[in-house]
Amino acid sequence: MQYNNDILIMGIKRTKIVDALALTNYGSEINVKGWVRTKRGNKNVSFIALNDGSTIKNIQLVVDAGSISEDILKDVTTGACISCIGTLVQSQGAGQTVEVLAKSIEIYGKADVNEYPLQKKGCSMEFLREIAHLRPRTNTFGAVFRIRHNMAIAIHKFFHDKGFFYFHTPIITASDCEGAGQMFQVTTKNLYDLKKDENGSIIYDDDFFGKMASLTVSGQLEGELAATALGSIYTFGPTFRAENSNTPRHLAEFWMIEPEVAFNDLYDNMDLAEEFIKYCVQWALDNCQDDLAFLNQMIDKGLIERLQSVLKAPFTRLPYTEGIKILEEAVAKGKKFEFPVYWGCDLASEHERYLVEEHFKNPVILTDYPKEIKAFYMKQNEDGKTVRAMDVLFPTIGEIIGGSEREADYNKLLTRIQELNIPMKDMWWYLDTRKFGSCPHSGFGLGFERLLLFVTGMTNIRDVIPFPRTPRSAEF
Ligand code: 4AD
Ligand code: MG
Repeated sequence: MQYNNDILIMGIKRTKIVDALALTNYGSEINVKGWVRTKRGNKNVSFIALNDGSTIKNIQLVVDAGSISEDILKDVTTGACISCIGTLVQSQGAGQTVEVLAKSIEIYGKADVNEYPLQKKGCSMEFLREIAHLRPRTNTFGAVFRIRHNMAIAIHKFFHDKGFFYFHTPIITASDCEGAGQMFQVTTKNLYDLKKDENGSIIYDDDFFGKMASLTVSGQLEGELAATALGSIYTFGPTFRAENSNTPRHLAEFWMIEPEVAFNDLYDNMDLAEEFIKYCVQWALDNCQDDLAFLNQMIDKGLIERLQSVLKAPFTRLPYTEGIKILEEAVAKGKKFEFPVYWGCDLASEHERYLVEEHFKNPVILTDYPKEIKAFYMKQNEDGKTVRAMDVLFPTIGEIIGGSEREADYNKLLTRIQELNIPMKDMWWYLDTRKFGSCPHSGFGLGFERLLLFVTGMTNIRDVIPFPRTPRSAEF
């Protein structure tokens, strides 16, 4: 037997339910603890479904009449936390292999039936978002957050096994990596009494960092510094974007994985992205079977099949220009999109999903985007119009990864920075990588929650992160 808790109650250590369900030493005593999901029964016997979060599965406690006092049993209600000592028995009923014949029950915490909000099954996702502090206790969110953990482990394992180093980039920064001006400012200044110069601009001299500082939108720039020293690195941390997009795919605070590799060109970058994402999906299929089976049944009947399908074939790779042609042909044949399609447009998720779900029926890596719609650091192509960008587009999600080969040429990079009016003095350290021992290098960013949307079949990004931050919402 595997013990997971040092606390001894009446001489018996607690067993996690995930471990208890695998036991076969019937007749022995066992202590399980958890939150009551349901209690049902009649005057002769009660059945309590107990869950401790270690697995989606509940263990059934069988309480014969008279074995537990009515005084205690009345507090065993949905949501209450209890500890139960009993005998492990082979289950009579269908659906479980073992159950516990209860000998004693201790109530740790009651949950008033009139107040506890998770009484009935089938609460809406919107309602559950309002009680995000309690929703991890539901089957769906338990499954999602166990999968979230497993994906984080998969990511570290993938890169560690490949010899990448996990590199910690700053959360507070003075540079806007994506140049999109969507940063949250960080200040200790008194906002009611801001010091301004004669032009009305705020003076930051006396602010905490002595200059304007913000929360990072990406760890890439610092990741590049690391890659041009350690060779292959990845970051995995929170990023923040103050974009006012209220969509099922955008968060103001999300987690991003950003590998950066010296000497990789765009093709190597695509290979890495494809191998990485397939590894993560395979990991979920191998390690999250119970949770995926639940989500497949309750949330999205096509989930497991879709996960398997992306593993089957190589992703389709094609230039942006070819993608636009396909979309324009579709429009010519009568396909209606909300947003117009033309060379130079930034693709909307409806366009991305058309290519993936309807045209190719396969994940797509689109490359060589117009430079105007991509960030300043991307390697410029000979044509003067496009850059070595790549976006990985996925069924149901659209863009799941964005990346590029980086501009390694000092002068070309400098010219682009000047064209875009990016303040030079903030970029001196970044330009140093191109000044001293510059090298070809590439990287990408995977949105962790977008990956989780795909792997769990959930449809709103607010439901794959424990406490979502979105415009006008920062509860909990
Ligand atoms: O395409 P993005 O903006 O690329 C970068 O940030 C680069 N610096 C990455 C790199 O090359 N190292 O963002 C990368 C990914 C997107 O493909 C998407 O999956 C996710 O991050 N993402 C978001 N996820 C949730 N909410 C948002 N607001 C997101 N913005 C981007
Ligand atoms: Mg992008």
